Amino acid sequence: MHEFRDYYGHRVRLAFADHPFSPSPGHVWVICRYGGRWLLTDHPRRGLEFPGGKVEEGETAAEAAVREVMEETGGIVGRLEYIGQYKVEPDIVKNIYFADIAALVERGSYLETNGPVLLEALPDDIRTDERFSYIMKDDVLSLSLAELKQRGLIS
Ligand code: GTP
Repeated sequence: MHEFRDYYGHRVRLAFADHPFSPSPGHVWVICRYGGRWLLTDHPRRGLEFPGGKVEEGETAAEAAVREVMEETGGIVGRLEYIGQYKVEPDIVKNIYFADIAALVERGSYLETNGPVLLEALPDDIRTDERFSYIMKDDVLSLSLAELKQRGLIS
């Protein structure tokens, strides 16, 4: 179990285990790779972030992950891998997924976002880079990337 503070000072706990906080989380976050690049979305208020959002009624978390990636980036998820889960105090529980994107389709609208952004690399100084969302600025990202490497999902 990892424990740290987020960008705003909220307590976060994270574990790469089978749904350690809730079997039915309210949120999902999806680390996406497409053609050797990272696929993010551009949120008008928060900035660049991996896609994600709330699980809707009658939907599983995995279904929400696939839907959010499509809605926010136009990405069609090929392979979806559950990685872990984190809890932001007081009550946000979020599943982390890794997705291999099979194709990117152009959409008329990307819901509340400005759509897809493809990056060769994530900057080393992402925590102070104003282009990026606060959700990319705590240990969730760095720990998740290390976990993906360890599992051989990224190099
Ligand atoms: P939307 O505008 O629909 O996204 O709803 P919201 O503003 O109510 O946000 P949401 O319910 O997704 O999250 C409420 C609060 O939880 C946020 O303001 C953050 O403080 C926190 N939160 C949500 N997701 C994350 C996350 O991935 N990381 C961190 N550190 N905090 C989060």
